[in-house]
Amino acid sequence: MKRPVAYVAGTGRGVPAHVMTNHDFAALGIETTHEWIVERSGIHERRIAQPGESTCSMAAEASRSAMQKAGITAGDIDTIIFSTATADRLLPSTAVDLQAALGATRAAAFDISAACSGFVYGCTVGEGMIASGAAETVLVVGAEKMSGIVDWTDRSTCVLFGDGAGAAVLRRARNQPAQSHPRGILSSFLRSDGTLAELLYRPAGGTSMPLSEQVLADRSQFVRMAGREVFKHAVRSMAEACDRALDGARLTYADIDLLIPHQANVRIIEATAKHANISMDKVYVNVDRFGNTSSASIPIAIDEAIERGVIREGMTVLLCAFGAGFTWASMIIRF
Ligand code: ACO
Repeated sequence: MKRPVAYVAGTGRGVPAHVMTNHDFAALGIETTHEWIVERSGIHERRIAQPGESTCSMAAEASRSAMQKAGITAGDIDTIIFSTATADRLLPSTAVDLQAALGATRAAAFDISAACSGFVYGCTVGEGMIASGAAETVLVVGAEKMSGIVDWTDRSTCVLFGDGAGAAVLRRARNQPAQSHPRGILSSFLRSDGTLAELLYRPAGGTSMPLSEQVLADRSQFVRMAGREVFKHAVRSMAEACDRALDGARLTYADIDLLIPHQANVRIIEATAKHANISMDKVYVNVDRFGNTSSASIPIAIDEAIERGVIREGMTVLLCAFGAGFTWASMIIRF
């Protein structure tokens, strides 16, 4: 097994205080029921950003908490890698807003766009920068204000998503005792298939179809999703991603102490666990409380799992994700 070049020094999360339950959709005139949403997705409630809360402000809260737990200051950060599909504005990146908010004066900062797989993509890029010597300390953030891009008149999508942010500080793994189980990132796997982009996308609002009266009338600046197709691909791709991460680390499912899948839908999570032959008590699930927070979902789950003692020192954790693109990704981390 390779010796890890980077380890997770600290994690944090920042989620809006406002809770929206399934029952609250009635007040918006959305024809749905708590029972339908729970049966199809497992979601009971989600957090929704209120005026004054932004993708950057949630990210800053998550980052400060991660930095504090990692025992670093903003001046220690070499690079900020910011995964988001819900940038606060289109130019410049939300990463530079976070750089400014944190006062990370030495940091390079950039956004990456890989939808729900973005946190795992970001950790892989961060690990690579540490391996190349370009950085010693990397802040990886997944932050999403999904409430700003879903169509609140489309019941087939708006009930599924929520807002929030999660962050991790990656640092060079050095001076680890020559033990057989060093902590850090053991493997990662990234894939994409852009031929399927239009199964989950925002048709308009970019440069190919700028905002216009027609776009606003069609509501085509908002997320459109072919739910059943997405479901099918998600199950298949998350299973593949889990297998490939294990191959990369030369481990088997029996070596995995905890599976943290992207929190989109409890049925996709259960199918992934079944493929891996991992019992649900070794799978971290919080989609019931947060809905799908896209690239924030995995770092929020990691941070909660550490706080609750579900992830303990020495444990081997498998992350896997799937999202718009399509993109899919996985990573094995020993904590
Ligand atoms: N409340 C009540 N009824 C609804 C709702 C709602 N909120 N939304 C849709 N329906 C109705 C539909 O109109 C349809 O009615 P009809 O049969 O009369 O036409 C019926 O429910 C069934 O609709 P389907 O879309 O076929 O339902 P399905 O069982 O596929 O569940 C769901 C829909 C939950 C979206 C499912 O397909 C799914 O989970 N897909 C994956 C979505 C996902 O996880 N996306 C994110 C992954 S990638 C990422 O995270 C970015």
